[in-house]
Amino acid sequence: MATEPKRSMLVIAKGSGVADAIISAFSGETDLRIETKDATLAQMNGKAISALANYDVIMFQASPDDSAEIEAIQSLVSNRRNETTLVALADGDISLSKARALSNAGVDEVLPLPTGDGKIDAQMIRLSRKKTPQHGGGAQAQGRIIAVAQARGGVGSTTVAVNLADQLCRSKGLFSRSAGHKVALVDFDLQFGTVGSFLDLGEQDTLLQLALDGTVPDANFLEQSMVDLPSGLSVLAAPSSFAPLDSLRSDQVAAILDTLREKYEFVVVDMPRALVGWVEPIVQRADEMMVVTDMSVSSVRHCRRLIDFFTQDNHALPVEVVINHQHKPLMQSRLHREAAKVLDRKLEHWLPHDPRAASGAADRGKPLSVAAPRSPLGKAIARLARATLSVRQVAMQRPAK
Ligand SMILES: Nc1ncnc2c1ncn2[C@@H]1O[C@H](COP(=O)(O)OP(=O)(O)OP(=O)(O)O)[C@@H](O)[C@H]1O
Ligand SMILES: [Mg+2]
Repeated sequence: MATEPKRSMLVIAKGSGVADAIISAFSGETDLRIETKDATLAQMNGKAISALANYDVIMFQASPDDSAEIEAIQSLVSNRRNETTLVALADGDISLSKARALSNAGVDEVLPLPTGDGKIDAQMIRLSRKKTPQHGGGAQAQGRIIAVAQARGGVGSTTVAVNLADQLCRSKGLFSRSAGHKVALVDFDLQFGTVGSFLDLGEQDTLLQLALDGTVPDANFLEQSMVDLPSGLSVLAAPSSFAPLDSLRSDQVAAILDTLREKYEFVVVDMPRALVGWVEPIVQRADEMMVVTDMSVSSVRHCRRLIDFFTQDNHALPVEVVINHQHKPLMQSRLHREAAKVLDRKLEHWLPHDPRAASGAADRGKPLSVAAPRSPLGKAIARLARATLSVRQVAMQRPAK
């Protein structure tokens, strides 16, 4: 006997391609009822718009230049039930100003359209399952988990994790109507973690304590354990003394992430070097993975193995490659094209080799936004954060040509 649908979703898109891809991606979700409307949001009149307020989730294909769409969103937002989540689907070419206009009008999320092969964003699945979203408080109901991994030791993953978290926390109002995003940074590089020294924090042995006594942390415990920086960034650093790698358990790691994403809009995770068992709950929960690499053949190969490892547990996981120690080239060389082919992705993010800014920030124990904001590396990290805040490029998930 079929189960009674408990959640309802409406997909508004012109033509059948987008709606079909979403229906097929959700075919296993028996408690979700999906309806489709072959239209644009702007084409729907006032009465139809107020009827939309009855759905739990509304996904619509955004039109890049339709000003009537913004009015339709505003009307929908003023009519919606408290729980209706409004999602705009856009292609990777959407401009930052359009993404911002959608968000300002009241859209909760801007997500990439399904890819040509029908893959959808992991966040779409999470939103469809979400039971009690809240609106109007500024914070989203569940934050995005961004995991940062490294293709080789020392390639720059902590630099990326620390400064991405810092930039996200300083950025205002793209997906939140209040000032600044709520961001947590977690150093899960249990044995070699350096987030604490990058940010000049005192000793913080929360993870060691958890590893030794085996307790599962709750919101209260984490709140008391995290260090809040003046920028607003909350940090859970790695222990300063040695903890055996297998002393943390998966349920503890899962509890940390689940608790933090209830409270923070972004949870940035510096991944451990070793792929221990408790990495699995990070990979399963991640909304986005960034793998930092350089262009050496061995790093690129290892990067590919890591991507395969991450996506085998979470097929819908978007993995983005960050090339460190290199300016974005004007023209991609044969080496770049070959790397893109090995990685099966466009090489989208580039951070220049900038030892002066990197060591200046490290020496002062400050993020680049404070120590060297105008440096090439400081600017490149700011771009990376902007790209993370705006629509994540669908093209990144497509095989490179
Ligand atoms: N783009 C860059 N230009 C110059 N130096 C950099 C750059 N990125 C990182 N560094 C420097 O390289 C060193 C290693 O960086 P980082 O600690 O971020 O790497 P990691 O991958 O986290 O290393 P680990 O394996 O120790 O975790 C640091 O001294 C950092 O300041
Ligand atoms: Mg590191």
